[in-house]
Amino acid sequence: MCGIVGYVGDKEVAPILLDGLQRLEYRGYDSAGVAVVNGKGIEVVKAVGKLKELDGLITSNPPSGKMGIGHTRWATHGVPSDLNSHPHADRSGDFALVHNGIIENFQRLKDELGQKGHRFISETDTEIIAHLLAENYRGDVQQAVLSLIERLEGSYALAILSRHEPDKIFVVRKDSPLVIGKGQGENFIASDIPAFLKQTREFLILNDGECAQVTQDGVQIFNRQGEEIKREPLQVDWDAEQAEKGGYQHYMLKEIHEQPDALRRVMSNRIAPGKIELSELSLTPEQLRSYRRIQIVACGTAYYSGMLGKYVLEQLVRIPVEVDVASEFRYRQPLLNRQSLVIVVSQSGETADTLAALRLARKQGARVLALTNAIGSSIDREADQVLYLQAGPEIAVASTKAYITMVAAFYLLALYLAKVRGTVEEEQLTTLIAEVLRLPELAAETLISSEEMIKGRAQVYKLQENAFFIGRNTDFPLALEGALKLKEISYIHAEAYPAGELKHGPLALLEDGVPVLAIAARHSLYDKMLSNIKEVKARGADVTAITFAGQREIEESVDHVLYIPSVNELFSGVLAIIPLQLLAYYTALERGYDVDQPRNLAKSVTVE
Ligand code: M6R
Repeated sequence: MCGIVGYVGDKEVAPILLDGLQRLEYRGYDSAGVAVVNGKGIEVVKAVGKLKELDGLITSNPPSGKMGIGHTRWATHGVPSDLNSHPHADRSGDFALVHNGIIENFQRLKDELGQKGHRFISETDTEIIAHLLAENYRGDVQQAVLSLIERLEGSYALAILSRHEPDKIFVVRKDSPLVIGKGQGENFIASDIPAFLKQTREFLILNDGECAQVTQDGVQIFNRQGEEIKREPLQVDWDAEQAEKGGYQHYMLKEIHEQPDALRRVMSNRIAPGKIELSELSLTPEQLRSYRRIQIVACGTAYYSGMLGKYVLEQLVRIPVEVDVASEFRYRQPLLNRQSLVIVVSQSGETADTLAALRLARKQGARVLALTNAIGSSIDREADQVLYLQAGPEIAVASTKAYITMVAAFYLLALYLAKVRGTVEEEQLTTLIAEVLRLPELAAETLISSEEMIKGRAQVYKLQENAFFIGRNTDFPLALEGALKLKEISYIHAEAYPAGELKHGPLALLEDGVPVLAIAARHSLYDKMLSNIKEVKARGADVTAITFAGQREIEESVDHVLYIPSVNELFSGVLAIIPLQLLAYYTALERGYDVDQPRNLAKSVTVE
């Protein structure tokens, strides 16, 4: 949940580290620091607060050197403070390091090192690693680094500098991501590819239990036995521009506007008029027909995409689908076997709970299909099959374009399974495919038609402390996702309910002026939804409805209506979510909050 970077080359390192950290700030932003190797040894500069605090310190007194490491923190052990910020060093200053992850046996190690005379100045689990290195050093830094793999429990990606071998950055990882960017006469390390996309397109992905030595001229990767491993770099074709704000005030707004293109990408080469093929899946039609149930596992927004996926899969493929939050799934002793298809969904591909669920499912003999946006991520590498979301880099903590591609990936999967398992007539399949192919255009239309109206609604929502979101069928997970977006960035308490459930309790909370966002994007349930809307309206709620173009009679029952283009109701989710994302964005903006980096959160949740 932190971001780490490193550079070794022929340029001054401090600005390069700061630039890389800025691109990783989404991973954590409560403090930051750098360590630079120079004639004075290892110089450390760190500061509590956002990166600009560190930037200020470095600008006024830049540490000079051509090699260094950096860190942006999301606190786990110890409050955000100068002392708890990374890099951490041992007492002698021989080792300095940055860490992403959690050391679960840190208290035991701390006590053990304490008995040997080590004294600590921070509350972090990371500081003990620097001391452990100093304790285990016997004239070979690589050996000391390898010994960490035996001693540390939990998750870690570490970048280590040592005065004993001052021309190398040592890296090692387990259950936290780490990539090595290869340049000409310079090399980079980072938690995530976008950190150095401007400098290189060639990345080496480090696997669990591997370590590497990175120098100006090369990279050597070793397994835990210390044997060298040869690895081909991954070529990344993302446009560096895709990882920038591109003129928008925030990444979130840019990413919302990128959604029509993201939809085009997730569909490209997979769906065409009358055709649906997922050729990257190496499952035979027999295997696809052999599954008796589907289990979806994910967290947060990805989980809500799975809830929506359940409705679509069950309707089109007629197969039972269960959906679990990964942190619950991993401890509920789920019943899986070879006839279960487990689908894990993760934008980052590094979410600790989702990764643990994947491992558990594979251990039980189930086949795991991952829907992920992150090529080379742990989930990508460990799943049996992968469907890439192709959303491009998503930087804002609040997920938008990744969500829309997750939902679209479920549409594609459901259509494909329906074709292979013969659960939908060919003619109907052709009609459904034609509807899905319209979605990128319709998403673009929805963006244009909703933005101004939503800006107006945000003027009202910004004054609220509570809001309710309601919907039925596929509109219910949308309500959940809309409520999550609003709480996540505007800090308004928002709850979502299946519309028919209100009278079983929550209706008691409704009184004059309470805002209710009603999603009525299912033709078949429109009348039922209208009745539920009347129920809340009768209690004085201020109702904004989202429905299909043409449903004019709803105007008599609600305060505001936002129309989305009409499409087959099974696929309306990727359209109806857009105004909800915009509502969260503009409300947070009106309230003056940091939209891209909301408090207490981080983009990639690599801790349990
Ligand atoms: O990277 P993942 O898709 O696995 O992340 C899962 C959740 O942490 C994530 O969707 C989170 O809920 C978002 N911040 C919501 O906007």
